[in-house]
Amino acid sequence: MADLQAIVDEIHAKLTPRLGEGKVADYIPQLAHVDPKKFGMAIIDVDGEVYKAGDCDEPFSIQSVSKVFTLTLALGKHGETTWNRVGREPSGSAFNSIVQLEHEEGKPRNPFINAGAIAVSDLVLAGHTPREAIGEIVRFVRYLADDDSIAIDPEVAKSEQATGFRNFALANFMRSFGKLDHPVEHVLGVYFHHCALAMTCTQLAKSALFLAASGRNPLTGHTVVSKQRARRINALMLTCGHYDGSGDFAYRVGLPGKSGVGGGIMAVAPGKASVAVWSPGLNHNGNSLLGSLALEMLATRTGWSVF
Ligand code: DON
Repeated sequence: MADLQAIVDEIHAKLTPRLGEGKVADYIPQLAHVDPKKFGMAIIDVDGEVYKAGDCDEPFSIQSVSKVFTLTLALGKHGETTWNRVGREPSGSAFNSIVQLEHEEGKPRNPFINAGAIAVSDLVLAGHTPREAIGEIVRFVRYLADDDSIAIDPEVAKSEQATGFRNFALANFMRSFGKLDHPVEHVLGVYFHHCALAMTCTQLAKSALFLAASGRNPLTGHTVVSKQRARRINALMLTCGHYDGSGDFAYRVGLPGKSGVGGGIMAVAPGKASVAVWSPGLNHNGNSLLGSLALEMLATRTGWSVF
């Protein structure tokens, strides 16, 4: 295997002069306060070796990266019937777009755009109060990362609850098509809270390791999902994980990945390693600008592209 620590150090050094590039998300007021010059990266290989650089042990708001965890939970509860509520196609639209919902009868294109993740929150709520569903999500992420210190940042959740007018519109629209089983306030309560999970790059990389290792977390020995399900979640991350930037990410990086407006990206090199990067400045698709570049450099240096 290539000298991964040297590669991570080199990526960090090359990107250091560019820290601060991109635009920090400010439509969620609490995210606007984050230092744009933060940069962290962590890789964990399937043998459990960890390679890190920069602010990799500082928690940040994982936002849409959490949609991978809620999808995994929903699939565990509902199996293939999950796909009656949400599709598996790239949207080619912005992450918070409403346009397709009208023509497609309130069924979102995929589980990673906001509408799709709201539909998934509705599925995770089945049989629970919102508080129980949020508790289940936090417990699941702690189990994946084998780390009980992971928590939701209540200020971020409150900030989004107060300003998430688009998400209220999306949820109400879906509800009008009879596509949500629970009250909009409950579904969005779950959605806003899972988006407000605060995690470090190291914790995120650990929690994605099961996707790099055929469904089994090699650090804990726990089988999280079947091999087939891990492959399918990776396929969705590859095709839909970066919204209308998914094609570009596949072209440049070639790894399944999921981004969040907090500037985090979680990526999976199947059979090899899981990776997390954090740099708050975003590109025009709402994906971390330097985070994408760091992963492109990593893929180039390691040859890890799945293509
Ligand atoms: O609902 C929202 O807009 C945010 N909680 C999550 C959006 C997000 O992370 C999109 N990612 N790039």
